[in-house]
Parts: sequence; C-alpha cells; structure tokens
Amino acid sequence: MKNYIAPSLLSADKNNLEAEIKKVESFGAEYIHWDIMDGVFVPNTTFNVETVKGLTKCHKMVNDVHIMVANPKKVALEYVDAGADLITFHYEAVECPICAGKIINMLHEKGCKAGISIKPNTKVKVLKELVEKVDLVLVMSVEPGKGGQKFMPSALKKIKTLRKWIDKKHLDCLIEVDGGINAETSKLCRKAGADILVAGSYLYGHDDIKERMESIR
Ligand code: DX5
Ligand code: ZN
Repeated sequence: MKNYIAPSLLSADKNNLEAEIKKVESFGAEYIHWDIMDGVFVPNTTFNVETVKGLTKCHKMVNDVHIMVANPKKVALEYVDAGADLITFHYEAVECPICAGKIINMLHEKGCKAGISIKPNTKVKVLKELVEKVDLVLVMSVEPGKGGQKFMPSALKKIKTLRKWIDKKHLDCLIEVDGGINAETSKLCRKAGADILVAGSYLYGHDDIKERMESIR
C-alpha cells in the first residue's frame, strides 16, 4: 500500500496555476490531479486541453488526469498528447466493460497509464474483471462535478473490497479516492486501503497547505 497525495487543481487559483502546481510539489505531493469536465457528463466545465498542455512539463509529479466526460475515447487521446501520465475515465461513460477494455488498451499502446472511476451509486462489483487491466481505480466519494462536497462513507466499503481483490491477486493497481478528503476522512480511507488521496478544497486556498498535506498522509 502507498501513501500518496494528489492535490486537485480544481480548487487552485486559476490565474496562478504554475505557482500553485510548484507549491504542492515543493511540499512533497507525488501526483497533481487535473479535473476535466465537459458540461455533459457533469454540468460544469473546467480546464481546456491547451491549459493542461502548457503545464504538464513544469514539474515532475505524475500528471493525473481525471476525465469526467461523456466521450472518454476521444478526449483521452487529446490528453495523452497534452502530456498526461495517467488518464482516469468513468465506467458510467462507456457502454460496456469491453468498451472500457478497449480504451485501457488504447492508452497503454500510447504509453499512458489507465485508470477507471466509479461514481457513488455504481457498485464496485462492476470492476471485478477490469481491476486486472487498469493501473488505478478511482473511487468517487462525492458526486463528480464540483469541489467542496461532503465525503460519502459508502466509499469505504468499496475501497476495502478493492484492496482485498488487489492483494489477493497481487495486482499492480492503485486505489485512489476523490471527494471530501480532509484530516478526518483521510484516516478512514487510508485504513480502508487507499493508496492515493485527492484533495482540493481542503488544501488550496489555505495558508497552511503544507501542514494540511501532512495531516492527510
Ligand atoms: C470532483 C473532482 C474532485 C474535486 C475534489 O468532481 O473530481 O477532484 O477537486 O474536491 P474536494 O477535495 O474539494 O472534495
Ligand atoms: Zn477528480
């Protein structure tokens, strides 16, 4: 099990993204989390591909791109070109597990890691086979679409189940959790078996970001 942090730029100062990225890198973040929204799969929109492309090389963290989009196949390729190291798409946005498998293979052929995410109402059992193909599973602990929401404890059981599957089969798959992470909920997620915690509003916009990062380790 790992103990990584992925600060989410969704809550960062959009006018100073480079400085916001370098700040969390200097405090030891291993991943930088980009939330991409298309206004269809979720109501909001966020960074465009040009913004991401301009900033994927200004640091050495893993560019962790979470695409909350209705057409992941097309969008994923744009973000591979933009410099993503890992792209996580939503299970709910693909028609079938075979379609998900095709996107995973496509990403691997391009030299990019592949992750799959499930929303709070999606059962973890849909990932039973896919967990063997992906590099990461992202468990959403809020409804995707915006920052600052309350952590949903139902995510914990999913994390525990995934941990069991992954350990039993010795799979090389990380478990990431996204939504409502703070000093308290992070402990529950780590205990349940999560490797990477995404945190946006708990970190960005605060003067004591370094201490806050330490509190979710
Ligand atoms: C929500 C995004 C998250 C968001 C988390 O749809 O996927 O990455 O930034 O925000 P907080 O940490 O504020 O819940
Ligand atoms: Zn996210």
